[in-house]
Amino acid sequence: MTPTRIGVLASGGGSNLGALLAHLEAVGGAQVACVLSNRADAGALDRARARGIPAAVITEPGDGDALVAQLAAHQVGTVALAGYLRMVPALVTRRFAGRILNVHPALLPAFGGHGMYGRHVHAAVLASGATVSGATVHLVDEAYDRGPIVAQWPVPVAPDDTPDTLAARVLRAEHALFPPVLHAVATGRLALGADGVVGGRLPLPDASAFILGTSADLPCAVRARFP
Ligand code: GRF
Repeated sequence: MTPTRIGVLASGGGSNLGALLAHLEAVGGAQVACVLSNRADAGALDRARARGIPAAVITEPGDGDALVAQLAAHQVGTVALAGYLRMVPALVTRRFAGRILNVHPALLPAFGGHGMYGRHVHAAVLASGATVSGATVHLVDEAYDRGPIVAQWPVPVAPDDTPDTLAARVLRAEHALFPPVLHAVATGRLALGADGVVGGRLPLPDASAFILGTSADLPCAVRARFP
């Protein structure tokens, strides 16, 4: 297992994968070692193949041994769920404890859990009357969207938002947040335990809102410029 070799699990178009690839190309120091999907038609697989990155279908998403073997075959040390819509077997979350991260399109713990994905999330946010939503990066454990929060980036909800307009704004925050957090974890600048952030710092872009979970010595946001 090489921490700087990132395995990406995705079920959809892969825009988060694209943002991660662009970021890693710019900053170096870590790489996407493979892209795996539970769907043979996932656009994320096409994005990988177009860049010569090993891409494969997860034939048995519930088979933890098989998934660990697929990741180990590429010496993966850090796992990123970039729009992966299946439950990750406990064998995998335990094997990669502190090194498996998901991006969720809402400010967890609100608007998360089983069935809370895609448009369902943004429709629920709008129905709640919330005036702020955002992106969350969190550690993955055996339940959907429950692991310790590592970073968040809030975005405003506009009065005339639809689920699609809100989704587009949150997706921009995801693309801005997930890659630097993944890079920091993969390169050891952000140390995570199974219980969350245990140390290190994130490069905080100017006037950005990063609210880092847990340890008190981590910087907290003071102001936000929304994407
Ligand atoms: C993103 O909204 C992400 O938060 C959610 O699934 C979506 C994936 O989009 N988990 P893409 O496939 O990365 O474009």
